[in-house]
Amino acid sequence: MIRNAFAALGATALALTLGAVSLSASASAPTVKPYHKALTDCAACHTQENAVAGNPFVVPSDKACLACHGSYKDLAKKTENLPEPNPHASHHYGEGIACTACHKEHEPSKVYCNECHEFSYKIK
Ligand code: HEC
Ligand code: HEC
Ligand code: HEC
Ligand code: HEC
Repeated sequence: MIRNAFAALGATALALTLGAVSLSASASAPTVKPYHKALTDCAACHTQENAVAGNPFVVPSDKACLACHGSYKDLAKKTENLPEPNPHASHHYGEGIACTACHKEHEPSKVYCNECHEFSYKIK
């Protein structure tokens, strides 16, 4: 009887510990890409200007990215010699596609074009 009670207590303690671990994991700050490691201020991308109801932690607008990366035309120039179509001056969307359709920050990036095509871009 006593043994079982202890076993049950042990299980409760374990569950509590696990709960605490997953809580602290979800509360930790999201990581940025290696190439952005110098950007230690979340507000570099999560600007007040882009905030929704006072919350800046929404998907950033292109304006936030372009503040550092020049214009879409500058970017198109950098990628004009790829063996694949220029992702920054595309057939369908031109400049009308959000950076974040392809470049993710806290999760792996993905080339939106490949929802339909099979281009071999090396996106980071
Ligand atoms: C505060 C300035 C700043 C902001 C804001 C910023 N970046 Fe950057 N980004 C940099 C710097 C600095 C580098 C590293 C140097 C470089 O490669 O230009 C970089 C690198 C990159 C690279 C890799 C470039 C390479 O050479 O492969 C990509 C892709 C990129 N940024 C996309 C974005 C996107 C998308 C956003 C918006 C969500 C964004 N950046 C916002 C400064 C910024
Ligand atoms: C349709 C997908 C797509 C969109 C939208 C997009 N990019 Fe890119 N971007 C790419 C791909 C793919 C590469 C890398 C190509 C390669 O090297 O294979 C790239 C490369 C880059 C680079 C590195 C350029 C270099 O020096 O070689 C930067 C910086 C960048 N993107 C920023 C941006 C920003 C800022 C926006 C929004 C204004 C944006 N991109 C929109 C797909 C996209
Ligand atoms: C270089 C730009 C950049 C920096 C710096 C950055 N983020 Fe983000 N953040 C993004 C992008 C882009 C997204 C959209 C989802 C994704 O790409 O992962 C995002 C999404 C988010 C989201 C989810 C918003 C939603 O509605 O889905 C949260 C929360 C967040 N970021 C928190 C932070 C915190 C906290 C920091 C600072 C430790 C930070 N971010 C730094 C670019 C950035
Ligand atoms: C929703 C599906 C879809 C997405 C996403 C998509 N495409 Fe396409 N794409 C098509 C279809 C269908 C065609 C053929 C009809 C046409 O020309 O519009 C095509 C044609 C093209 C062509 C003309 C040459 C050819 O191969 O026929 C290019 C270049 C192209 N796409 C590039 C891109 C790029 C770059 C992106 C990402 C920025 C992209 N596409 C995203 C469906 C898509």
